[in-house]
Amino acid sequence: MCGIVGYVGREAAAPILLEGLSRLEYRGYDSAGVAVCTADGLSVHKAKGRLHVLSGMLDGGRAVQGTAGVGHTRWATHGAPSDANSHPQVSRSGKIAVVHNGIIENYAELKDFLQKQGVPFASETDTEVVAQLVEYFYENGKADILDAVGRCLHRIEGAYALGILCADTPDQIVAVRKDSPLILGIGDGCNFLASDVTAILRHTRRVSYMDDGDLAVLTREGIQRYNRLMQPVEMEITRVDWEIDAAEKGGYEHFMFKEIMEQPDALRRAVFPRIRDGEVFLEDFSLPDAYIRSLRKLYVVACGSSYHVGMVGKYCLERMLRLPVEVALASEFRYMDPIVDEHTLVVVISQSGETLDTMAALREAKRLGAKILSIVNVVGSSIARESDEALYTWAGPEIAVATTKAYTTQLAVLDLLGLYLSKTLGSLDEAERRRILDEMLLLPEKLERVLAGKEDIQYFASRYFNLNSVFFIGRNIDYALGLEGSLKLKEISYIHSEAYASGELKHGTISLIEDGTLVVALGTYGKLFEKAMSNILEVKTRGGDVLALTAESRRAEMSRTANGVISIPDAHPMLMPLLGAAPLQLFAYYVALMRGCDIDKPRNLAKSVTVE
Ligand code: M6R
Repeated sequence: MCGIVGYVGREAAAPILLEGLSRLEYRGYDSAGVAVCTADGLSVHKAKGRLHVLSGMLDGGRAVQGTAGVGHTRWATHGAPSDANSHPQVSRSGKIAVVHNGIIENYAELKDFLQKQGVPFASETDTEVVAQLVEYFYENGKADILDAVGRCLHRIEGAYALGILCADTPDQIVAVRKDSPLILGIGDGCNFLASDVTAILRHTRRVSYMDDGDLAVLTREGIQRYNRLMQPVEMEITRVDWEIDAAEKGGYEHFMFKEIMEQPDALRRAVFPRIRDGEVFLEDFSLPDAYIRSLRKLYVVACGSSYHVGMVGKYCLERMLRLPVEVALASEFRYMDPIVDEHTLVVVISQSGETLDTMAALREAKRLGAKILSIVNVVGSSIARESDEALYTWAGPEIAVATTKAYTTQLAVLDLLGLYLSKTLGSLDEAERRRILDEMLLLPEKLERVLAGKEDIQYFASRYFNLNSVFFIGRNIDYALGLEGSLKLKEISYIHSEAYASGELKHGTISLIEDGTLVVALGTYGKLFEKAMSNILEVKTRGGDVLALTAESRRAEMSRTANGVISIPDAHPMLMPLLGAAPLQLFAYYVALMRGCDIDKPRNLAKSVTVE
């Protein structure tokens, strides 16, 4: 959830750290801080609030000397956002500074131990325990800093990516990673660490992904990596091939809007190279046909919007494969004693590839004997690397906290997976399979048409942006899409919103409908269109205002009943959510804009959720 960055080289560190943090702010934005090694010891600066507060205090970093340092942008877990709880956390002598992403689970016990040794604490954070414990071993054992960090790692439990400075070794940074992302950047006469590539891409394209339990020592001359046994390990270097502009707003007011508009191109990247001569090609896919034929069920495991992709996927995959598909929230899966074995393919979906709940579920499924196939956006992320198979969505960097292009490309890749498996299983009529594949190639162009109609959606947003509560209803695949529409609206506009399966209205929810209640009714699924119409009438009869989403071919019919209609081009029923998501994203965007919300960084949220 937090973002960390480190630099050691010949240039002034602070401006580089602040610039890096500006690209990580999406990970957390409660407070920010930097620590830089100077001739007089560590120079530590932190401030509650957005990064610009800190940057203003430090004149963009120019006020701080020193060529090695670490920086942090925080999503608060232990202790409210405040200057004292901001990172870097420092040891009592001020010699050790630590930035941390993750949670030290046994911090209370360690804090108690240290307090009994007379160590005073200045914050409520779990991270301060790391700084104090490293110093405790550094002083007490007369160890060098690396030994002290090693001994500290033996005592702490939980998830952590750490950047550690010691005033006595001012030209080096110690980096540690366990269950929280951390990459190393290899520059020319300088080296970096960061929570993700965007923070350092301006300086280098050469990165090395740290493995779990790895430790690294960075100096300006080089990086030495060690495994969990403190044995030196070779660094595998990867070249990042996307451009920094992909992670910039490029003239748009918000990342979210830019990312919504990028969806046709993102779909082209996700789909086009994978369809050739009417067949699906999945790069580096190595699950043998015999294994695919031995499958008894699929389990889709994910969180948030990625889970909603799984919900749509259940309807599509079961139709394509004629196998049961279960969908579970990753945070529940790991504690539900799931029925999973070697005949279960677990499909893990994650934009970031770092969501802790999802990672934990992946490991649980592996332990139970399942094979893991992940659908991931961030290349080289932990989930991708721990899976048996990883299919990338190729959506490019997604910065806005509310996911948009990752969602649609995940849907597309899941459909491609279903089509691929159905070929081996012989479970889908060949003509139908070909029809879906052909139609997938038309999606980007159709989506461009949907996005071109954004003014209509803006108009509906202007009609409804002042409401306190909105319901989304739909049946089957439309219900699954409604879950995502509702999440988009609530997370960025703070309007209370729920999604219901339309058939469930009469079992309770309909009591909430009164004069003027907005119900967004999804009726894109042709087979159940009449049923959708009946539910719309039920809502209208009780005073509800209905904004409907349907196929172009049904627009006229829908217009006779609904108060407002948004239509999307007709497509194969399984592909309608890929087109239907965009108007819902735009509706949420415009509503949030009109309410003056902080769209890219909604309150209390962070992009990559690396705590449980
Ligand atoms: O990176 P992941 O796909 O694993 O993230 C899962 C959720 O945290 C994410 O989808 C979240 O719900 C978004 N804010 C939705 O817009």
